[in-house]
Amino acid sequence: METTLIIFKPDAVQRGLMGRILSRFEDKGLQVVGCKLMHITQDLAARHYEAHKARPFYNSLVGFMTSSPVLVLAIRGNNAIAVSRKMMGATFGSNAEPGTIRGDFGVSNSFNLIHGSDSPEAAERELALFFQPAEIVSHDRAMEKWVYDCSGGAPE
Ligand code: RTP
Ligand code: MG
Repeated sequence: METTLIIFKPDAVQRGLMGRILSRFEDKGLQVVGCKLMHITQDLAARHYEAHKARPFYNSLVGFMTSSPVLVLAIRGNNAIAVSRKMMGATFGSNAEPGTIRGDFGVSNSFNLIHGSDSPEAAERELALFFQPAEIVSHDRAMEKWVYDCSGGAPE
């Protein structure tokens, strides 16, 4: 099981899309193990997007991410990182495929609604930035055996 960091960006919160976007993750069978509404500080945004520091869009990206509250989630499941990235769609709303979150809910390139960790290393780093260990609430789901085929021992 992987755990990934998902952020519903300021545009998703301001547009009242939190519930609809979160429903997609729950509908898919992914599990919410962490969740908080927060205002990202400049320092946290800088650490989160440090890989993009030299990019021309960096200042506007940090400005956007700190402009209004975000919903931060820890999402768990088999291949949760890749599954979530696929659900999000391409980076720019203008060319994200219909059926994806960015493709269905937005058309802007900068205001693209959602962040998701792009690798296991990124997920580990980003989860530690946004959540204290005790804020990740691991728990059994009664429906787990109907979400995954566990007949072989591991969830399939
Ligand atoms: P994210 O990190 O937010 O999940 O998005 P991503 O992996 O799909 O895209 P990434 O390349 O990591 O870029 C991070 C965010 O920077 C903004 N961006 N603007 N104007 C541009 O060329 C440009 N490129 C990227 C987007 O908001 C993107 O989500
Ligand atoms: Mg990224």
